[in-house]
Amino acid sequence: MENFSENLILVVDDSLVNSKMLHEVLENVGFEVILAGNGEEALQQLQNYKPDIILLDVMMPKMDGFKTCSRIKSTAAIQDIPIIFMTSLTEPEERIRGLNLGAVDFITKPFQPAEILARVNIHLQLRGLTKNLEQQVDERTAKWSEALNKLQASQMQLVQSEKMSALGQLVAGIGHEINNPLNFISGNLNYISDQVEGLLRIVRLYQNVLPNPGEEITAELEEIDLDYVERDLPKMIQSMREGTKRMTEISTSLRIFSRSDNLEKQAIDLHESIESTLLILGHRLKPTDTRSAIEVIKHYGDLPLVPCFPGLINQVFMNLLANAIDAIDEANEPINDDSQSEDRFESYFDNYSENHSQSRSERHSDRPYQIMIYSEFAEAQNEVTIWIQDSGKGVPSELLQKIFEPLFTTKPIGKGTGLGLSMSYQIVVEKHCGTLTCNSTPGYGTEFAVTLPLKT
Ligand SMILES: Nc1ncnc2c1ncn2[C@@H]1O[C@H](COP(=O)(O)OP(=O)(O)OP(=O)(O)O)[C@@H](O)[C@H]1O
Ligand SMILES: [Mg+2]
Repeated sequence: MENFSENLILVVDDSLVNSKMLHEVLENVGFEVILAGNGEEALQQLQNYKPDIILLDVMMPKMDGFKTCSRIKSTAAIQDIPIIFMTSLTEPEERIRGLNLGAVDFITKPFQPAEILARVNIHLQLRGLTKNLEQQVDERTAKWSEALNKLQASQMQLVQSEKMSALGQLVAGIGHEINNPLNFISGNLNYISDQVEGLLRIVRLYQNVLPNPGEEITAELEEIDLDYVERDLPKMIQSMREGTKRMTEISTSLRIFSRSDNLEKQAIDLHESIESTLLILGHRLKPTDTRSAIEVIKHYGDLPLVPCFPGLINQVFMNLLANAIDAIDEANEPINDDSQSEDRFESYFDNYSENHSQSRSERHSDRPYQIMIYSEFAEAQNEVTIWIQDSGKGVPSELLQKIFEPLFTTKPIGKGTGLGLSMSYQIVVEKHCGTLTCNSTPGYGTEFAVTLPLKT
């Protein structure tokens, strides 16, 4: 005979004779049996045990079988245990009522031991199969949803890197396009300056030789105010030189930002990378309806060149700085109470100063719209660290663990994809064997530290 020793059966019957008989029959073939004399007792037993099947008498004092059945079926933890009614009722309506309440079968009194065992056995098998099936469905669903999540994450990652590479190409294009006309202007500025000076000298010579050039020329000389032109022209040319110098810097920065040569590591100046990223993000630092301009305060240390994939490292700075700006914007959204922000920031920066090294101790400031960038070369560890600190809304401590997870975002749909930090983490930790950590005090601000080893 089959071994049922793993199966526990609850027998609910108010007749001692019946209970005893069922107990014997079932135990003889290896079932474990627990007994209850009525519906209430059965519900009590079910608080301590989870039987594999319930044999339930219909006619019982206090709480009859139908009521007990409905109570079991409305209790989530036990509702899936199969119930077999035991009844001498032969009325079909009673059977239908029992089945409607969720029972799986009926055993008719007086009992035939062989019938009891056959029915119990078949329902246990059915239950086993159902459980197995449910488990398989659960496992597959879990697998599918994991696969779906992965797919979503990699799709988003693709979109993100596409976006970065499109931005890179655009920026490289602009950098390249403005370079030619720029060279043209700055190259010609020197000639213009010489030639204009030459023209002015000639005019002065004419004036010396012909002190009275006649009415028409005298009127024209007064009209253009030659003395003023002579004083003003060198200044104009100087400011044009400064303008073209600035544009050359911008064009260089654009080209540095768009370095897409990610295949090989190069020794790069990280400050250049940060500067070029700040340039690209420059428009976002400007005043908005809800805040004044964001001030970027830099305390750059003496950094050696660092071996990096330049395009990727730019992407990290881009993500960290864009997040910092977002956090400042979010801290200054109209719903927030701005009146206290200055105090809050003061104490935040005070706290930070105490914990950080000398070179970064001057960070105290009254202004709440700030991004501070620090860099340091730790010779002993042979690594460099860049700290990017903002006076934004901060990260609640319970979310600190989550922010590096792919797709985690607190930003509205369409604004954040939740990939910036996870990609940055990958770039710093996996591609550069560095570390990327975050410290934050909600309501005061956040600091990210990127550490990159000089030898990998
Ligand atoms: N400087 C910061 N201050 C406060 N919260 C931050 C800061 N940086 C990141 N976070 C939090 O971490 C979350 C994840 O950042 P992450 O850069 O990965 O995604 P995102 O900025 O939401 O979207 P995107 O993919 O566009 O970057 C943000 O939604 C935000 O809640
Ligand atoms: Mg981001």
